[in-house]
Amino acid sequence: MRAWQIGLGVLTMAWVAFGAPAQAADQIQIKFSHVVAIDTPKGKAAEKFRDLAASYTGNRVKVEIYPNSQLFKDKEELEALQMGTVQMLAPSLAKFGPLGVKEFEVFDLPFLFDNYEQLHKVTYGPIGQTLLGKLTAKGILGLAYWDNGFKQISANKPIKEPTDMHGLKMRIQSSKVLDAQMRALGANPQVMAFSEVYQALQTGVVDGTENPVSNFYTQKMHEVQKFMTLTDHGYLGYAVIVNKPFWDALPAEIRSQLDRAMADATVYANQIAKQENDKALEAVRQSGKTQILTLTNAQRAAWKQTLAKVHQEMATRIGAELIQSIQKETGFDAGKP
Ligand code: LMR
Repeated sequence: MRAWQIGLGVLTMAWVAFGAPAQAADQIQIKFSHVVAIDTPKGKAAEKFRDLAASYTGNRVKVEIYPNSQLFKDKEELEALQMGTVQMLAPSLAKFGPLGVKEFEVFDLPFLFDNYEQLHKVTYGPIGQTLLGKLTAKGILGLAYWDNGFKQISANKPIKEPTDMHGLKMRIQSSKVLDAQMRALGANPQVMAFSEVYQALQTGVVDGTENPVSNFYTQKMHEVQKFMTLTDHGYLGYAVIVNKPFWDALPAEIRSQLDRAMADATVYANQIAKQENDKALEAVRQSGKTQILTLTNAQRAAWKQTLAKVHQEMATRIGAELIQSIQKETGFDAGKP
């Protein structure tokens, strides 16, 4: 045996005995699955977290992002998280009902928040923390809230008055509050995974939908919808969640570095959300494919009035106390246009 072969043998034995070089063997992988495009508030925030996690842990943690429902669709990704197939998600708050934590649907109540400032009083405050705490019993840890924005309504006919919604088949997320909202408008809600919406709109399986503009634009929904009305009638945002046993088993030092990465990514996420939606609106306008409509004050008041009953209807599902505590926090006034 030659000297270099002996050397190689010793190296191989050392590898077997002490493990692969630090970086590869010690590297912790976090699979982060989501359903939207990369170029969205959530997509960008996920990448920010990935980069900060690598930097703060000195590359000990590698976050692999699977965007655009590449790995899992809405419902499947929650199951995959609980099974530990993926470790991190950021589902919209409208998607926690099937998991058995229906309180998050409070965020779907129409016209509950007038702006991001009001919303942040809840998501940055004790109510938001208490809600995240409800996930623990499901083996899930809630780390943060990330904003998207306020939802607009699209269809192939102009929608101005709430009565224009009568009889329309509207795609919604799985939330029962959204179901009640569409029914209050006289529309027929259809729950559907986000990844299927474009095709459903294109083929006429549904007539319209609701989403913040960043989602419309990046999924090219504006190419298959003739009109979009700027209703801002509800909020869509996310809870960033992890598999709790996985998180708890991380070395304490790594966990605190990741907490810091998440805190910084959250600041970034909530800074860019509005501007991403403004940019997307401009891009939809420029495309000339969807006509953008706005509401008069009187029309907006009519929407708000039509949808006010959803707050009462959903009280038994979500909890009257929770709804009232948020209304108090935001200064909600059903009579205000
Ligand atoms: C939707 O399904 O419409 C949204 O929740 C998608 C998302 O994650 O923003």
